[in-house]
Amino acid sequence: MSTTDTWNPDQYARFAGERRQPWDDLTALLSPLSRPRVVDLGCGDGALTAELHGRLQARETVGVDSSPAMLERAAPRAGAGLRFKQGDAGSFSGGPFDLVFSNAALHWVADHAALLPRLAALLAPGGQLAVQVPVNDQHPSHLEAAATAAEPPFEAALGGWRRESPVLTPEWYAEALFRLGFTARRVRVEVYGHELASRDEVVEWVRGSLLTDYQRRLPEALWPGFLQRYRERLAAALPDQRPFLYPYRRLLLWARLA
Ligand SMILES: C[S@@+](CC[C@H](N)C(=O)[O-])C[C@H]1O[C@@H](n2cnc3c(N)ncnc32)[C@H](O)[C@@H]1O
Repeated sequence: MSTTDTWNPDQYARFAGERRQPWDDLTALLSPLSRPRVVDLGCGDGALTAELHGRLQARETVGVDSSPAMLERAAPRAGAGLRFKQGDAGSFSGGPFDLVFSNAALHWVADHAALLPRLAALLAPGGQLAVQVPVNDQHPSHLEAAATAAEPPFEAALGGWRRESPVLTPEWYAEALFRLGFTARRVRVEVYGHELASRDEVVEWVRGSLLTDYQRRLPEALWPGFLQRYRERLAAALPDQRPFLYPYRRLLLWARLA
């Protein structure tokens, strides 16, 4: 497995406009906060972290990300109570925070049954948790990636590894939030319709996110072949409509402690 950082801020930012709506919806779930202390887990290039910091007039915001490339992009946005640090969202400790926020990142963290109590423990009394994760694994964009990975020579190169999303059912989160003592809770699944120029753009979309998981596990020499084969499979699976609607299921969670 390659140890290189496969997150490419430019590739991810190509669809910043389309990726923004879920963030807007997540922030709309927040109840009023007064000069909060905030942590944004998996903050990426920090653009939305900075916006959140400003919008909430936060006393302090820390953006946490594991990718050096993303953090390099975030660094110039630091200041006035906003800072960024490298870390793993799954094992991050600190706080207490008034808001634990994470947009489109915690699907990269394993074992949500262990993760959720850890996130709750970061919160001060009355604190809020707001999380958005993609749950699009049944769309051809994801299924064809898995099918490509199961073909030779990729299967052998991946050593039997299969990508499985750690995201659990919406019902599981509803119950877990209740058991963790959150007195107000919202659990919502929404299907976003991302409008792309053509189905080819689906490849560009997932190259900036889902496919990074395959890329970092495959030898560099096999990566162009994987991408080519994935492109072929996807072209066979999706209609050639222009513009192309890419339906994308996402889970939004919000909860507040007493
Ligand atoms: C899809 S981007 C989302 C970035 C940002 N939250 C946004 O909404 O624009 C996912 C981010 O999660 C980060 N990430 C993935 N696994 C992580 C982990 N275990 N700990 C911290 N960050 C992680 C990636 O480096 C990437 O920047």
